[in-house]
Amino acid sequence: MTGHLRLIPEEAMTPDLDAAIRRGLCVCFPDNAADFSLTRSWHGSGPAWTALVEDDGLILAHAGAVDRVIRAGDRPLAVAGIQNVYVLPPHRASGLSNLVMKAVMEEAARRARDCGLLFCVPRLERLYSRMGWIALPADTPVVRVDGGVECPIPGKNIAMYYPLAQRDFPPGLIHLQGNDW
Ligand SMILES: CC(C)(COP(=O)(O)OP(=O)(O)OC[C@H]1O[C@@H](n2cnc3c(N)ncnc32)[C@H](O)[C@@H]1OP(=O)(O)O)[C@@H](O)C(=O)NCCC(=O)NCCS
Repeated sequence: MTGHLRLIPEEAMTPDLDAAIRRGLCVCFPDNAADFSLTRSWHGSGPAWTALVEDDGLILAHAGAVDRVIRAGDRPLAVAGIQNVYVLPPHRASGLSNLVMKAVMEEAARRARDCGLLFCVPRLERLYSRMGWIALPADTPVVRVDGGVECPIPGKNIAMYYPLAQRDFPPGLIHLQGNDW
């Protein structure tokens, strides 16, 4: 494999690594380059830990985990909210996304989180399903909080979860108790 896999708690993130990840984010999410040139956070939600594959200062693949207690149905749920998953174009279709997703969720399990939760466009459901993620019903209402105002997540996104301590995702409304990631 090209590069080496690293798991980085946010407390150990260095400015150089932060900048290298943001360069990768700008390449892989060009529509959001203005945001990612400044921060790895999305809508103010930043990672508590990060898995990446690094090769000579280049971050080939990346996944961040937001640490959040949400409400699902009528219960609190400690989730690893997966964000900013990318693989640099020349390195796609080579298993690197699986590697960082596995590492980031192994850390979630070590930290005794209930499950993983991510939002993605429907075309990526197959990719994440292959990694053990499970799509929630398309009509599951998801509420985020933006500037103190409750609003839905973008309609083009679906929600998927990864079972850890919580094997079945509780039915009902998902309230993110903050903004989305
Ligand atoms: C998503 C991503 C990390 C997957 O990387 P990868 O594991 O190396 O896999 P690939 O890029 O080869 O694609 C995996 C699947 O996604 C599909 N896909 C990827 N990019 C796509 C695009 N722009 N349009 C349509 N389908 C796409 C592939 O066709 C493939 O589908 P399949 O699983 O049904 O065969 C990578 O494509 C990427 O960095 N994309 C840009 C950033 C992004 O969208 N991240 C996801 C945020 S949730």
